[in-house]
Amino acid sequence: MRVYLDNDWKFAEKFTEDMVKADYDDKAMTAVRIPHTVKETPFHYFDESIYQMVSGYRKLLSVPADWQGKKLLLTFDAVGHDATLFINGIKAAEHHTGYTAFTTDITDHVKYGEDNVITVKCDSRESLNTPPFGFVIDYMTYGGIYRDVYLDVKENVFLKDIFIKTKLAEKYDDEGIQRVKSSQIISDVMIEGLSEVIGTDSFDELAIRQFFRKTGDAAYRVIAENKLSELDPKEGVRENIFEFSALSGDVELWDIDNPALYEVKTELLKDGDVLDVIETKIGFRRAQFKMNGFYLNGKKLKLRGLNRHQSYPYVGYAMPRSMQERDADILKNELGLNAVRTSHYPQSQYFIDRCDEIGLLVFTEIPGWQHIGDDDWKNQAVENVREMVTQYRNHPSIILWGVRINESVDDDDFYTRTNELCHKLDPTRQTGGVRYLKKSSLLEDVYTYNDFSHNGPNKGCDKKSDVTSDMDKPYLISEYNGHMFPTKAFDWEEHRLEHLRRHANVLDEVAKQTDISGSFGWCMFDYNTHKDFGSGDRICYHGVMDMFRNPKLAAAIYEIQQDEHPVLKITSSMDIGEHPGSVRGDVYILSNADSVKMYKNGRFLKEYFMKDSPYQNLKHGPILIDDYIGDAIIEGEPDMGRKEAEDLKSLFNEVSKVGLNSLSKKMLAKASFVSVKYRISLNDAVALYNKYIGDWGGESTEFKFEAIKDGEVIKELVVSPITSHKLETEVSNTTLKEENTYDVAAVRITDIDNNGLVLPYSNESVSLSTVGPIEVIGPNIISLQGGMGGTYVKTTGKAGDAKLIITPQYGESIEIKFNVTK
Ligand code: GAL
Repeated sequence: MRVYLDNDWKFAEKFTEDMVKADYDDKAMTAVRIPHTVKETPFHYFDESIYQMVSGYRKLLSVPADWQGKKLLLTFDAVGHDATLFINGIKAAEHHTGYTAFTTDITDHVKYGEDNVITVKCDSRESLNTPPFGFVIDYMTYGGIYRDVYLDVKENVFLKDIFIKTKLAEKYDDEGIQRVKSSQIISDVMIEGLSEVIGTDSFDELAIRQFFRKTGDAAYRVIAENKLSELDPKEGVRENIFEFSALSGDVELWDIDNPALYEVKTELLKDGDVLDVIETKIGFRRAQFKMNGFYLNGKKLKLRGLNRHQSYPYVGYAMPRSMQERDADILKNELGLNAVRTSHYPQSQYFIDRCDEIGLLVFTEIPGWQHIGDDDWKNQAVENVREMVTQYRNHPSIILWGVRINESVDDDDFYTRTNELCHKLDPTRQTGGVRYLKKSSLLEDVYTYNDFSHNGPNKGCDKKSDVTSDMDKPYLISEYNGHMFPTKAFDWEEHRLEHLRRHANVLDEVAKQTDISGSFGWCMFDYNTHKDFGSGDRICYHGVMDMFRNPKLAAAIYEIQQDEHPVLKITSSMDIGEHPGSVRGDVYILSNADSVKMYKNGRFLKEYFMKDSPYQNLKHGPILIDDYIGDAIIEGEPDMGRKEAEDLKSLFNEVSKVGLNSLSKKMLAKASFVSVKYRISLNDAVALYNKYIGDWGGESTEFKFEAIKDGEVIKELVVSPITSHKLETEVSNTTLKEENTYDVAAVRITDIDNNGLVLPYSNESVSLSTVGPIEVIGPNIISLQGGMGGTYVKTTGKAGDAKLIITPQYGESIEIKFNVTK
């Protein structure tokens, strides 16, 4: 039985020894629920010292008398960053890292039929001698009990852990779904309590039974039943691990397009009675990094991913299940990615579970950032490998373990240890370890490298041979862009365009180089950071999304690589005054359609095709607009010859793009040739330019775009001067569930024009209020940044109807209705 203990905690920013005592008066402590952050922060402009403290958490746990004789195992899924656990005043455990779970046997510490005091001393100071601390870090390391807490009530002999490996026979294809004819699962089951309770030689009464089904199927079928005495304890790894295998039959393979999941139920039996049970979700797949790329189920797949931090505005790391799942959904469904790197630490099980469910491949790694500490510190890092691998190894989505401290220097002794332990605990997966060094000491299976070589005009990435120290081993780019071009949603248009272009440049080059397994861009969204990094307001504007997960322009280059939903975007608002000298510059069409037709004030100008994109290695690349005139001159100037009209058109299009003063020598020569040949004075030329391309005076210019796929218009977009605007909201979920703890909904808020386009310079202020059993996380007055912003609402413990009211300074309020269930 599992009991979640996320509710009814008391918290104080300062821990005192008294808090462990039964008679401690905790009235002065604040009532909190888990996930919890030790300090709610402002959006930006705050110092990292504000969440650094030694705080105290306290909770009363009533333990029923009939639990006497059972095993009580208390798990904290994560406490940032150093935890000391006391039960009834007695120290029961310590845990020295903030990104993995720890379980404590509290059986001997509790009083039955009474209230028990659980106290956690939580140290979130960055002076701790544990990863990632010791030098500088480019992200905030918020503190608190920020993932679930639960109690497992078990018998004295119980299943402590299970690791399920798969063996796959010949593959076949069944209506597009890959399957294998026969599969086998091999389980390493760790049983605790054997020697104390039964004595190692009387295993006879114990047995293990295993059931199997496809997720979604009603019935399980038994696939194995073994007496424990028939199984040999596995040598070498740890005591009391029993290995056995079972035939799981003809199964669908887990893939990015068909993430088929199966469930294995493993029971521990004593004389036929079930003592314990573990249910494990698994997937059957073959994930291999080879010297020439990554292969999933035998098919080569270019990994296209982003790095994800686990932080949110205001509450740092403390967000429940729904918000963890939402990030995975955004990466896969909105941005169309096939992979994510959990930089720079293991992240919520809910996030990874969701990756399993939706087919998003994961590269996860031990906590750390550049710095390697002393022996104690290194021992902790090795322990972190153990915790990461044992806690996450059943997830089919995880394809690579990162066993180096991100961007640290070579340390062969240390990294020999992390690699060895990782391979021992999981012989099925390869190791990587992220470095910024070329030709560094390669103890891992995959050379994983942060390639920040791209700076705009140059090539998107280095060649594998320029970087790796072993061409026979696989190669993967673990980061690019990021600090090379920080970009705010409210930066000027050409900056935002360059941000997009740089992401496109790297993606295109990675796609071209066939021996690169793939790449992970830096990064999914902006994040709060330390004083040494970011833009001075404690934000690294490195995301392709803002902190509320609103897409910046660069997000579109990822979005258009997918085919699930139609995308059509233009990189410009077409307001020439945004640009120096009123020169519009390069404007691109971004779409995943077959072609895009462009119209100006109802007149067809040109149809653009994917083959017109300069990015030929991408499935869908940005396409440069090069015609703002179409046949307008030919039709509007009947006295002009066709050739003359064509010559003027190409000249005018070029002038509108680069400006008169920046025409190339070739274009200047053409201009003088045209003026002489057709006897056109400069005044005539200017008048014609203004008539056909200039945007001053007269009627306003409206550009319309139609995205066409299989002959049908699948999306339309109009860009014209703004005449009105209003707030638009998008809510992640309007049905909120109070289950083990509170639930949260994310609300994206944008200011959009009459064509539905986000206004990049709107800083509209918005006030937020609620009715019913929800409350706003963070401030009640926010201002949009770059036309975008957001908020979060959380449930307050009761069921019922609720409302969030969003009121802009100008314009009408929006009400979002929620239903909270319990
Ligand atoms: C890398 C680092 C990331 C982030 C990024 C910014 O060096 O691994 O954590 O700081 O740079 O581009």
